[in-house]
Amino acid sequence: MQKTLSPVLRAKALDNRLPDPILGDRYAEQAMRRLDPDYDRRRFGTSQIGLAAVVRAKAHDDWTRSFLADRPDAVVLHLGCGLDARVYRIDPPASVDWYDLDYPATIELRRQFLPPREHYSLIGSSVTDLTWLDRIPRGRPVLMVAEGLVPYLTETEVRRLLTSVVDAFPSGQIQFDTVSVWAWRTSKWDPTLRSYGTQFHCGFDDPATLADWHPRLEYVDEAPMNDSPVLMAKAPANIRRMYRLLNLLPGMKRSSRIVRFRFNA
Ligand SMILES: C[S@@+](CC[C@H](N)C(=O)[O-])C[C@H]1O[C@@H](n2cnc3c(N)ncnc32)[C@H](O)[C@@H]1O
Repeated sequence: MQKTLSPVLRAKALDNRLPDPILGDRYAEQAMRRLDPDYDRRRFGTSQIGLAAVVRAKAHDDWTRSFLADRPDAVVLHLGCGLDARVYRIDPPASVDWYDLDYPATIELRRQFLPPREHYSLIGSSVTDLTWLDRIPRGRPVLMVAEGLVPYLTETEVRRLLTSVVDAFPSGQIQFDTVSVWAWRTSKWDPTLRSYGTQFHCGFDDPATLADWHPRLEYVDEAPMNDSPVLMAKAPANIRRMYRLLNLLPGMKRSSRIVRFRFNA
């Protein structure tokens, strides 16, 4: 499962080589060099960058920034963080306490590759072992960000996670990306996922209905993904054409979605 973090990290690192990057994440390049000592010697075409992953990260960053601008006293739960440098990109004020969580082996890599900072903690745990929540200060607004994580959990695990976070905090925002039922069901044949020895474990055709899981949870909106203007503006012509064609297929445009929920007391 942790193998899935390398392609997304590489996408963010390669974006930083572009003259006008989407994320501009120098930490991704630093971490990528540590993960793959030959990284600088390898040649990658623009079509290999994996812009969808970068666009997804940018959408999560934009939502994170706007939530923290309104709630500078928040606690951030960045779940399935991998080697993503979101905390450095966002650079929250000292009033925010930020927690990055992933499996212990990934957290160990983070310790080696990325610098420590104030008001920032690492938690090495499976996200599904909810005892990690006991380590988080309560009574403050929470922001839960899960980028590229939810499809790897079962629906039961996602439901327990979301409802436990809502129960634990007075108010907050929950944002994550998810895939459609079709994308989930066919993931066992996806050559990329197969090469990492993994597959998705859940999918939702209408993620807004997840708000029904808790009376305090409210669906807010969705960020563009496969038809994102940033993706269309930055992708090379062949990739743009591929997305235009795929987006014509029923269900393809919404095969992966980035969604946001809120809750209050
Ligand atoms: C596709 S990678 C995404 C990494 C990072 N969020 C990003 O976008 O760059 C998925 C990450 O989720 C983590 N992950 C998957 N299942 C997990 C679980 N049950 N508990 C903790 N982390 C998990 C993996 O270790 C991996 O780092």
